[in-house]
Amino acid sequence: VIPDTKPLKDAMPFPLGAATYQRFTTGGPGEVLSRHFDQVTPENYMKPEAWYTADRSFVTSNPEADALMDWAKSTGGRVYGHVLAWHSQIPGWFFQNDQGGALTSSDADKAVLRGRLKAHIDNIAKYFADRYGPYGSAGNPLTAWDVVNEVIADSTSASSNGMRTSNWYNVLGEGFVDDAFRFADEAFNHTYAAPGSARPVSLFINEYGTEGGDNASSKLQRYYDLVTRLLAREVPVDGVGHQFHVSLNTPVGNLDLALKKFEALPVVQAVTEFDVATGFPATERLLIRQGTYVGQAFDIFRAHDANKDLYSVTVWGLADLGSWRYYEGAPLLFDDYYQPKWAYAGAIGAP
Ligand code: XIL
Repeated sequence: VIPDTKPLKDAMPFPLGAATYQRFTTGGPGEVLSRHFDQVTPENYMKPEAWYTADRSFVTSNPEADALMDWAKSTGGRVYGHVLAWHSQIPGWFFQNDQGGALTSSDADKAVLRGRLKAHIDNIAKYFADRYGPYGSAGNPLTAWDVVNEVIADSTSASSNGMRTSNWYNVLGEGFVDDAFRFADEAFNHTYAAPGSARPVSLFINEYGTEGGDNASSKLQRYYDLVTRLLAREVPVDGVGHQFHVSLNTPVGNLDLALKKFEALPVVQAVTEFDVATGFPATERLLIRQGTYVGQAFDIFRAHDANKDLYSVTVWGLADLGSWRYYEGAPLLFDDYYQPKWAYAGAIGAP
């Protein structure tokens, strides 16, 4: 048994987040969440598909989203929104014309998809402003969004300039990323922002696989190149997110390389979806190794935050049971019964 000696968040120089659901914000799980974390990301319920009814209209209520906002309001925490534009977990009709055929890259179809992207972002911004007040005001704890997610190709792809050839990309080209950030900036940081508040919502790009090393053909390089292009076009990108879904075989130094890569750019960074798979089943030996790994990872995160440019570190779930990687082996800091693991001790930096 690993004793719960202190709140994890007290051991961090940056806000500590957990991906979660309404049901983990109350009762026993809610106590663990509130004791150890000061930020939450909705694991699924702010994704595009969460916002539409079967007849394609924007929902009148999203109780899962509200529950996370309420938790943050009552605990003094923050909500990190996930995700405005993604190729996954989005209704198919986004990319279809009225006849049900696929949108093409014609000017007319481009206008249709851009219009849907703008309406989608505007409606979400309005949704929370209506319920919690303008962004940047005391009652509204939403402070960040993953604006786009996983837009980089997994392998070198000259034809798409390193971009994933998603439905978004195929219709709009790389410009859909610019559009998403500009629409989000307008909505969250202007139209629905409290007067006088300076950019209350930080806008992130988010990506997986940046722990794969730093070389000319790495995903990290393609990611860096895109961020550089966006900044050159003066796209309002505030932050660069690294999912960091890793395993015990991932060299922990690669997390450092990924964060170092962006250090000189005018952006903050976030670890957005950290988990460490041990292999299944997770034996005690593997769990101890995981504790060491997590300790080294958090030492890297803390060291990187010396100049306060780490916006937050988020673990992708609260307790192992229910983790999306459960069958890759116990990836989180608390076990199936919400008890602290070696990984918890590692994150605190216990000897
Ligand atoms: C995952 C959730 O954890 C699962 O519950 C869901 O079935 C699929 O999505 N990258 C992301 C997250 O950005 O949104 C994904 O979350 C995990 C990978």
